[in-house]
Amino acid sequence: MKAGSGTAAAESVEAHSVERPARIRATIQIPADKSVSHRALIFNAIATGEALVQRLLDSEDVRSTAGCLAALGVDIDWPEGSTDARISGAGMHGLFESDDVLDCGNSGTTMRLLSGLLAAQPLLSILTGDESLRRRPMARIIGPLRRMGADIHARTGDTLAPIVIRGGGLKGVDFRSPVASAQVKSALLLAGLYAEGETCVTEPARSRDHSERMLAAMGAGLSIEGESVTISPAAKLSALSLRVPGDISSAAPWLVLGACHPDAEITLLGVNTNPTRTGILDILREMGADIECSEERTSGGEPVADLTVRSSSLRGVTVSGSTIPRAIDELPLVALLGCFADGPTVVRDASELRVKESDRVDAVVGTLAQLGVRVKAHDDGFSIEGRSALRGGHVDAAGDHRIGILGAIAGSLADGETRIENAAVEVSYPQFFEDLQRAGGMSR
Ligand code: S3P
Repeated sequence: MKAGSGTAAAESVEAHSVERPARIRATIQIPADKSVSHRALIFNAIATGEALVQRLLDSEDVRSTAGCLAALGVDIDWPEGSTDARISGAGMHGLFESDDVLDCGNSGTTMRLLSGLLAAQPLLSILTGDESLRRRPMARIIGPLRRMGADIHARTGDTLAPIVIRGGGLKGVDFRSPVASAQVKSALLLAGLYAEGETCVTEPARSRDHSERMLAAMGAGLSIEGESVTISPAAKLSALSLRVPGDISSAAPWLVLGACHPDAEITLLGVNTNPTRTGILDILREMGADIECSEERTSGGEPVADLTVRSSSLRGVTVSGSTIPRAIDELPLVALLGCFADGPTVVRDASELRVKESDRVDAVVGTLAQLGVRVKAHDDGFSIEGRSALRGGHVDAAGDHRIGILGAIAGSLADGETRIENAAVEVSYPQFFEDLQRAGGMSR
């Protein structure tokens, strides 16, 4: 099954073969939320006191964040293969200048959030990443951080990483972001903790609010009104121990597999059901999917539940507007749902998909077209004709983890065998193929 492996996600040459199981009865413990894991490390790094973070996501992206923080002098005890980490907070002003370039790997969250934090530190910092990350737009953080007074530069007219920052001396701003982006919002909230005066970020639609929840729990002065978040400068943050809930983005492939497969029942344990992330549940329910929510509880300041999905008859839908940021990483899977629905499924207002780890509009269209689906690209999304039969084929995810997972789930619903290359699941869901094997979907 494993042809070999590279270190950077984009260089991975692993190949996997999948086919449709006759019947699926599975219970899956959903891996920890990637967004919450990054934030638990970064915010505790500048807090006062020691934090124990349990069920941290042990994936390449989160390891990139931990590696950068360690290079900035933060004491993080996170043994190889463990999901528990101890962070000794360096305090708000305790970071040291790194003696090397900070490598953010494939992780946009690492690069953008750390840029916000480092824009406020009296240090010289250089942030870079892999080939994919060095193609992603950084002007969206560089512009507002400069307005706050940061000395920040980047390649190609201040748009692309590497990013060079000489931080310090920030003033609060009132910033209207043209994109609904939690990464932009969180970068500015981090910078705002150190600025003179208040910092306000307004988004066109609400993006995920993990930063707001965690910073408030650590004692930051923060208020939320509609689509605006305002943060006051802070003298200190208190260390926060927490248990990270499961990632709905890692539950989504199973929700889609269960709803589309003709004989399936899958239970997903410990899923973060934060309403700023549950767009995929709303879309599935509107399409007619049979999903049951049980054992509702909270963990790490986030709502959590177990979800059970069963084989369903689906109808096509149009997804647009404020649902888009609430389902941004799940939209590739919505295209697959569309293949099993009666009537067309259309995704619009999602031009952000074009600037993710890959151009996910083209990647979704290319992947599904390889498997025989009639799918059309738009500038800001895609359309799928309903009831498209999938036939096995060959998918090259080119190092984009969400496309690798899409290819594997599509292959688990197709006639015949599908081979997936460069799936890069180590980025967000390292045990994905083991879980798929347990659900009966691997052919060898
Ligand atoms: C993330 C925010 C989203 C999402 C990404 C993780 C975060 O990106 O796509 O996978 O942790 O803040 P944007 O905020 O740029 O939309």
